[in-house]
Amino acid sequence: MNIILLGPPGAGKGTQARRLMDKRGMVQLSTGDMLREARSSGSAMGKRVAEVMDRGALVTDDIVIGLIEEKLAGGAPGGFIFDGFPRTLAQADALEGLTERMGQELSAVIEMQVDDEALIERVTGRFTCGNCGAVYHERTHPTAVEGVCDACGSGDLRKRADDNADSMRQRLMEYYKKTSPLLGYYHAKGLLRSIDGLAAMDVVERAIAELLDRA
Ligand code: AP5
Repeated sequence: MNIILLGPPGAGKGTQARRLMDKRGMVQLSTGDMLREARSSGSAMGKRVAEVMDRGALVTDDIVIGLIEEKLAGGAPGGFIFDGFPRTLAQADALEGLTERMGQELSAVIEMQVDDEALIERVTGRFTCGNCGAVYHERTHPTAVEGVCDACGSGDLRKRADDNADSMRQRLMEYYKKTSPLLGYYHAKGLLRSIDGLAAMDVVERAIAELLDRA
């Protein structure tokens, strides 16, 4: 089963993708994580990507499609969770071509609905573990021991450079202009399912599980 988690920045896509990996053995493909890896490599491409991400704009389609193509080739017996991809109609078309070539298909596209005010609160309070990628929030989901990751015990807890109010306004604009048209695209294909992403994390997890059990 291959699914897309679709929603604005801070909707909870990464949080739920990690839970799906743990419970269902699926593989998360996050283009945001792949791009952060590229920027930390310090390559010329990584430097260009860093500038675009920090502004809150979208990286070009050819770069992200190339990254996804590479990861898809590895296969995933439990299926893929696309997190933050596709983000444009061109990326959606490319994904369709890639999955077709692999003899695979999408089972569902899950839209996580959260209002803008809550999104800004979520991203400005977010921090992540640089070692294992676990995601936290200063107020709603702190670590049990301050400064130590619950999942792996690392002290490498970081805030993202683009998790500030200015960049977030731009990211939301990009979402509404370029990504939200995908809701109509996948609705027309009969794949779109929507859930309330404002609910507590466990409630969102159960809603996704119910959708997948019916897909
Ligand atoms: P990316 O890394 O994909 O960021 P994003 O889509 O902006 O999404 P986020 O990671 O910010 O949020 P999320 O939905 O995963 O929320 P999370 O679970 O962390 O992309 C970053 C940049 O890379 C883009 O701006 C762009 O430049 C570039 N890029 C990436 N993909 C691209 C593509 N395909 N094409 C072009 N450019 C691309 O949760 C957020 C916070 O909320 C956390 O603190 C969490 O603890 C908390 N939280 C989660 N769920 C709940 C809940 N139910 N209740 C309360 N709090 C919650």
